[in-house]
Amino acid sequence: MVKRIKKVKKMNTRPITMLFLLSLLLVAGCSPGGQLEAQKLVDYNAAKYDGLEATGTLIDGVRVIEIKAYQFYFEPTTIIVNKGERVRLIISTEDVPHGFEIEGFALEDYDIDTRIRPGFPLEIEFDADESGVWTFICTIYCGFGHSTMRGTLVVK
Ligand code: CUA
Repeated sequence: MVKRIKKVKKMNTRPITMLFLLSLLLVAGCSPGGQLEAQKLVDYNAAKYDGLEATGTLIDGVRVIEIKAYQFYFEPTTIIVNKGERVRLIISTEDVPHGFEIEGFALEDYDIDTRIRPGFPLEIEFDADESGVWTFICTIYCGFGHSTMRGTLVVK
C-alpha cells in the first residue's frame, strides 16, 4: 500500500515577497530562512553538482525517486533533480519506523511527524521550481543514531 500525499510545494519566488524578506533580514540581522540559504548553497556548490545526473526515473514526465530508510541512513543519501521537474519521492523503511522532512522546504498539508512504517511507503509529490541544496532528515526517533540520519536534496 502506498500512502499518497499529493501536494504542491510552496515555493514563493515573487519579487515583492523576496524584497520583503530581504528587508526583514536587513532589519533583523538574523539568519535567513531555508529558501535563501538554499539559493546561496547551490551557488557555492554549482561546480560540485553541475555534472551529476538526476536521480531516479522519469515516468510520464514525473521524476520518481525511491528512497529507503534504514537505521541510520537514507539510501540514496544524495538525490538530484532538475529545476522545473515534478518530483515524486517514494520513501520506505527497511527496519523500524522513520520520518521524513526536507528542512526549509514547505510541503502543504504534509505532516512532518508522519510515521513511515515497514510495508507502508510514503509518497510525496512536489514541483522542484527553485534551485537549491536542502537537507532532508528523519523526524521520528528511531534509535541512538536518529539525529545523524540525514541526506541532501539538490535542485539544479
Ligand atoms: Cu530514522 Cu529517526
